Amino acid sequence: MRQVGARGPAVRPREEIDRLRPYRIGSPAPAAGAVQIPPVKLNQNESPLDWPPELKAEVMRRLAGRPWNRYPPVDADALREALAGSHGIGPDQVAVTNGSNEAILALVQTFAGGRSVLLTAPGYSMSAPLAVIGGAAVKPVSLQPDFSLDVAVMVEAARAGDVGMVFIASPNNPTGNAFARPELEAILDAARGVVVIDEAYAGFASDSFLPDLSRYTHLAVLRTFSKAFALAGARVGWIAAPAAVIAAVRKALPPYNLNVFAQEAALAALARPELVAKRVQMIRRERERVLEMLRRTDGVTAYRSDANFILFRTELPAAVLFLRLLQRGALVRDVSHQPMLERCLRVTIGMPDENDRFLGALRASMEAS
Ligand SMILES: Cc1ncc(COP(=O)(O)O)c(C=O)c1O
Repeated sequence: MRQVGARGPAVRPREEIDRLRPYRIGSPAPAAGAVQIPPVKLNQNESPLDWPPELKAEVMRRLAGRPWNRYPPVDADALREALAGSHGIGPDQVAVTNGSNEAILALVQTFAGGRSVLLTAPGYSMSAPLAVIGGAAVKPVSLQPDFSLDVAVMVEAARAGDVGMVFIASPNNPTGNAFARPELEAILDAARGVVVIDEAYAGFASDSFLPDLSRYTHLAVLRTFSKAFALAGARVGWIAAPAAVIAAVRKALPPYNLNVFAQEAALAALARPELVAKRVQMIRRERERVLEMLRRTDGVTAYRSDANFILFRTELPAAVLFLRLLQRGALVRDVSHQPMLERCLRVTIGMPDENDRFLGALRASMEAS
């Protein structure tokens, strides 16, 4: 809307940006008075557990000792070295980013702008918009009915000269499954552009391509502190890749992209691997319990997961079940707009009592139909 009395031209966004829908997590507010108590928040694949107060206090102490009038270390050396050291790679094989979303965008801009990004459908909901924002065309390839990769089609498409980047989240969001190693290797062997394996949920899975960096010149592995490390609020992601890939992508990242708070918080979290491992174990245990309970619920098909969430399908329209669950105190994610995911919702694994509340809400919602 034009402001009354304002001077200047009506500025127009790039057409492809104009066509994007703003990022929303699809949680319509329920009718007034419909929810008595705040719902359990199982809609964003976050950790249900915040960091303990003593760890927060330590970060605050360290922050207080840092000059706030100065820019942070431009290369975030301490964090890059800590990440490299804890994963057996060199600091020149690491770039840190403001959440892994910034990493995806920088990789697109570096390797695929003006060309195409090959990605899976269903897949991570921000991968296609970030490709568009980065100036690339999007080439989606459908998964198989069991949510595995359609390797033949991916391999053929990855050979095309205009594909600057292949993006695959493994474990995949929202389907939850990790892809089989030989299938990912076949795509790596065929691709002419950079192959980005987004391992946002690696903490909850059994396999990773991080140890394979030395075998490929064109592999980039993405990690985040937002999930297993319980730091979604700090916005820290990172890229592990061969030094030449990292050197290129760092030119596309704004200097000082990671603020002092984020750097300190990530360093403190990295120093507590035993706490992270204990929490991950609890989530994995709960994931299997919730899966089993979902599979015992009439009218529900639940898919196995290698992540901290579960995809499930019911006979009800997803929007109807979403609202029924919310009215009964469980906030989940409606993912039914994605290809192949009609009547599907995604639930993040929370604490045992939160999961019980969700399961109870689901049973009651299904019985109400
Ligand atoms: C597969 C995948 N990649 C990346 C992200 C974004 O993570 P970050 O918080 O690091 O930007 C998410 C968040 O849900 C995700 O599911």
